[in-house]
Amino acid sequence: MRKQHLQTFAFLLLLALVPGLAHSQILFQGFNWESWKQKGGWYNFLMDKVSDIANAGVTHVWLPPPTHSVSEQGYMPGRLYDLNSSKYGNQDELKSLIGAFQHKGIKCVADIVINHRCADKKDARGIYCIFEGGTDDSRLDWGPHMICKDDTQYSDGTGNPDTGADFAAAPDIDHLNTQVQQELSDWLNWLKTDIGFDGWRFDFAKGYSSSVAKIYADNTKPSFLVAEFWSSLAYGNDGKPSYDQDGSRQELVDWVKEVGVPATAFDFTTKGVLQAAVQGELWRMRDPQGKAPGMMGWLPEKAVTFVDNHDTGSTQKLWPFPSDKVMQGYAYILTHPGIPSIFYDHLFDWGFKEQISQLAEIRVRNGIYPSSTLNILAYDADLYVAMIDGKVITKIGTKLDLGNLIPSNFHVAASGKDFCVWEKK
Ligand SMILES: *[C@@H]1O[C@H](CO)[C@@H](O)[C@H](O)[C@H]1NC(C)=O
Repeated sequence: MRKQHLQTFAFLLLLALVPGLAHSQILFQGFNWESWKQKGGWYNFLMDKVSDIANAGVTHVWLPPPTHSVSEQGYMPGRLYDLNSSKYGNQDELKSLIGAFQHKGIKCVADIVINHRCADKKDARGIYCIFEGGTDDSRLDWGPHMICKDDTQYSDGTGNPDTGADFAAAPDIDHLNTQVQQELSDWLNWLKTDIGFDGWRFDFAKGYSSSVAKIYADNTKPSFLVAEFWSSLAYGNDGKPSYDQDGSRQELVDWVKEVGVPATAFDFTTKGVLQAAVQGELWRMRDPQGKAPGMMGWLPEKAVTFVDNHDTGSTQKLWPFPSDKVMQGYAYILTHPGIPSIFYDHLFDWGFKEQISQLAEIRVRNGIYPSSTLNILAYDADLYVAMIDGKVITKIGTKLDLGNLIPSNFHVAASGKDFCVWEKK
């Protein structure tokens, strides 16, 4: 009898907790490839945008790599404890910005670049492989022994082999070295306790194994963790993405499951399929099982969907979304399962602040959350229609005649070029 009571209590407790866990999350990428050029510093500049970002329903903001770096954008880091040499601003300005976001209830995500690291000094061989941590003591002061032995140019050959892909432009760090693990974990925890960051975005997560990523996740317990695991799409002989992208999304799902809670991953599969689909191939947006074709179709609660970022879009344009169809992309990700993210450029530079904020408002108002239910109603070349949680209907595509697809108890909540969103009355 007693045991039964306990079970009932545990069940009720679970019910009480689940709606809290199911809350809507929206990530914002708070910079682009040129942000380091901002006069007066990017951190100070972004201070004036905090209210607009909060009004777009954002719950998490991803900030650029904060440390000393050989390259302006921050992706060639060296002295990791030195946050005063960044082109984006100094340590005090960063802390003020984080404080301003947190005051609005927005969590801050640091861009963590640990696959590779740039050395400050040359060794006796004349090779740059002596690292400085940026503190008065010896934390993160490393030598060539901390470099993977397959990085033959820099390593002394006594490190472990790399557990992931090579980064050619800088020494790859030996993450199987326990001193490396300990000192990087300490540094991450310092970013949390002293600087105020809440979570991490792992840059170039293909550069080290998922078990290495798990060590840092377990040692630092971020409340949010997203990986840049750039999984390639499959392409056909015509140069277009194949219809079946199960290989691409399986890699993302595997990584997230291997790292465990709280890991999520940017949904590169959805990004690639969606930007092909909006060009008259919207049949791509439903897989043979009736699910969404990206990682979001398989593990929505761990899929961080996006339209573009500082690499794919911005001035680099490595894999850009068709620029005239960006709002169709947002109509999709902001109403669908997954954890949608909004790119700085689209909110502030492309004139989409009102439209994006309106879609985010619809998401929040209807309680759409990462594992909301998706029901795909139409998927033709020029028309995609889906219902989410039975409460919201989204249409993208050029087709105007929808027949009687939209039930009469739904009314238009937002619309723009080639997209429309309805809410249940
Ligand atoms: C950076 O500046 C802050 C504030 O002036 C200071 O507390 C901190 O020690 C500095 N860090 C380094 C590595 O010089």
